[in-house]
Amino acid sequence: MAKTDSRRGKFITFEGPEGGGKTTQAKRLIQRLETAGHEVIYTREPGGTPTGEAIRNILQHDTTGEEISSAAEVLLFAASRAQLVAHVILPALDRGAWVVCDRFADSTTAYQGYGRGFDPEQMLAINGFAIDGATPDLTFLLDLDLDEGFRRLAIRHQEKASPLDRIEQEARSFHERVRQGYLDLARRYSDRFRVIDSMREEDTVHQDIWECVTRECGL
Ligand code: TMP
Repeated sequence: MAKTDSRRGKFITFEGPEGGGKTTQAKRLIQRLETAGHEVIYTREPGGTPTGEAIRNILQHDTTGEEISSAAEVLLFAASRAQLVAHVILPALDRGAWVVCDRFADSTTAYQGYGRGFDPEQMLAINGFAIDGATPDLTFLLDLDLDEGFRRLAIRHQEKASPLDRIEQEARSFHERVRQGYLDLARRYSDRFRVIDSMREEDTVHQDIWECVTRECGL
């Protein structure tokens, strides 16, 4: 687990390609932590603050009607993140709450770095500026086969009668690079990354995550 001595709360992030069940698993973990008596904040990226949610709408649904340049996309994700760290994440951790975040800085390295083709080292530097020391204690990479991820995504969009968003619509090769990018990050930052096979049943995945949290966060 990453070393973050000065904080009182724990910071856990969920990452991975589309359709891996991040939101479901984040919420199940929170329920379990709350039952164990912890204060837990759930948040997501992009979003999680009024400014961040406005940025989310621009990024996912082209609300301005203007094409977003790839560089602007990187900086909009980073701006949403900086706002979330300053207004939600650090205050919560400082008062001893746990924070569970649905995507965080690693998404920019995976999607804009490996996916779009920006230098991953440059993405890491921009993330460093945005997160102000808020490195996650644990990051769960919910990894799964692309076909299965898109099968699940199609079902979700069908249920909600919503269209695929701007990034979901990217080519298969883009999403394959994103997945490989995540696996590279997991190898590089093995102190905090835990790769979870998300092809399995939801309950089995949850049990793996819970065992990891209890073991590594001293519950
Ligand atoms: P989701 O969290 O609902 O899956 O939607 C967020 C989308 O934004 C998803 O397609 C991944 C993408 N994304 C990036 O491309 N870069 C980022 O830094 C973040 C946080 C998300």
